Amino acid sequence: MNHIVWHQHAITRSERAEQKGHRGAILWFTGLSGAGKSTLAGALEAELYRRGLHSYLLDGDNVRHGLCNDLGFSLDDRRENIRRVGEVAKLMLDAGLLVLSAFVSPQRAERDLVRSLVGEGEFIEVHVATPLNVCESRDPKGLYQKARSGEIKDFTGISSPYEAPVSAELVIDTSEGDLDSQVAKLVDYLIGGGYIPA
Ligand code: ADX
Repeated sequence: MNHIVWHQHAITRSERAEQKGHRGAILWFTGLSGAGKSTLAGALEAELYRRGLHSYLLDGDNVRHGLCNDLGFSLDDRRENIRRVGEVAKLMLDAGLLVLSAFVSPQRAERDLVRSLVGEGEFIEVHVATPLNVCESRDPKGLYQKARSGEIKDFTGISSPYEAPVSAELVIDTSEGDLDSQVAKLVDYLIGGGYIPA
């Protein structure tokens, strides 16, 4: 960027972590529509709040009403959606938060781009690996039905690709086990990695 110099502010990442009592991280939930990303991220956030930890949930269905309301579902628009969300998540991480993001984010390259924006261990990819047939049978918003009939074009898993992560830090299939045990798995990961206190 020409003539724009990064300004280094005085308060460091570790000072913020000390003040908050935990480290920051981005938990990046990726998976098909209806896989349970928002439900899982929302339940995790409730548990983090209960523990007195500081978090913020970025959700595709909400962000697309504002920050990204000019974007559609072509692969280019999805890439731009994730690029913007990645930058916002990075700022929130810098503020010391546990950032939970729930976006389909179907392309490996766009998820790897967000990973590359932050430091080692600060991007935790959570593949919400609920099978397509389960997502389609849930069809909470009736979108799969519309995708099958052709009313919605470029629908992930039906008429637009989903590239599953190859080395996600965590894989959770929400059609197996209950929500509490899935949240416990995430909390255990954060404790085990030294992000949050036990
Ligand atoms: S992403 O691909 O750019 O990451 P994002 O997570 O923001 O997608 O938005 C996905 C949500 O938009 C889905 O949960 C669904 O409710 C809705 N949606 C509408 N059209 C589509 C589509 N063509 N493909 C996927 N999701 C869609």
